[in-house]
Amino acid sequence: MAAATVRCLLTIAVVLAPFLAGATAGGPLSTSFYSKKCPNVQGIVRAGVASAVAAERRMGASILRMFFHDCFVNGCDGSILLDDTSTFTGEKNAGPNANSVRGFEVIDAIKAQVEAACNATVSCADILALAARDAVNLLGGPTWTVYLGRRDALTASQSDANANLPGPGSSLATLVAMFGNKGLSPRDMTALSGAHTVGQARCATFRDRIYNDANINATFASLRQQTCPQAAGGASDAALAPIDAQTPEAFDNAYYTNLMGKRGLFHSDQELFNGGSQDALVKKYSGNAGMFAADFAKAMMRMGAISPLTGAQGEVRLNCRKVN
Ligand code: HEM
Repeated sequence: MAAATVRCLLTIAVVLAPFLAGATAGGPLSTSFYSKKCPNVQGIVRAGVASAVAAERRMGASILRMFFHDCFVNGCDGSILLDDTSTFTGEKNAGPNANSVRGFEVIDAIKAQVEAACNATVSCADILALAARDAVNLLGGPTWTVYLGRRDALTASQSDANANLPGPGSSLATLVAMFGNKGLSPRDMTALSGAHTVGQARCATFRDRIYNDANINATFASLRQQTCPQAAGGASDAALAPIDAQTPEAFDNAYYTNLMGKRGLFHSDQELFNGGSQDALVKKYSGNAGMFAADFAKAMMRMGAISPLTGAQGEVRLNCRKVN
């Protein structure tokens, strides 16, 4: 598709996203929550993410993933940002997050600037929701309206993180069920998985796939095997590879083309194109960047509305790492 057409479709997606998503897009959240209380918050967050992405493009991917891991564990409530305390073991060291989720210092830096502009007003959960949107857009992906008014959790749970975040060995049925548990459709799940068009993964997360899966492109498997040896447990566990080998730093629809060529890096990725219910959608997204962009934006709005704390629930944390 011509670049101009893609740009045009992206613009349409952006303009229509809030309407297509309907009145329920934000649930109890609103687009004008900080209009009077902190009118510059969106500009401050965007500038903070822009400088982090300019310093290291991968950071955009890392912030996007952090938001997903926040929302899937007791809702988008900033719980992933909490350090462990004597009264609870938080989410940072849960299996899917330990030595993996990154970007905490970026959120800290943005929070400090937001506090300087509007003391005790903007939640860490909302900052993360805005930052994830800006990260996608700064990497070349769509943008969307972020509904605001989330409050921050007073606690975090390592066991809830372990139970609610899908692993890279998941089957299609498991993925559909785990997203379904959060009110997200199979279509949302397939669109959101397109986030794997950016970012990096550790050998330990895809070793099984490149040595044991049958539905993998042989050239791709041997390429990945060069930096991810079969023996587990050594330093190679942490060796990184791009999730999207074609355009790892651009938010595009190449992820779906990879799946059609059996070049999904995780077993769970390839499950979306393996003769099952999502094959047709993967094919559509791979041929239609505008459709993927529009669906991704809508699905991110729905994910951002998972069980927020609002009103008098929770608090507005002053430091994202600890309760007030
Ligand atoms: C469908 C189920 C999903 C599974 C099984 C999954 C699994 C994974 C795994 C294993 C990694 C590599 C982690 C590491 O090596 O440390 C990863 C990275 C990543 N995931 Fe997912 N993920 C899923 C869905 C999502 C969703 C819904 C998003 C966002 C909307 C997302 C965004 C990312 C990003 C951006 C990275 C790269 C992060 C970086 O480079 O720091 N993932 N994912």
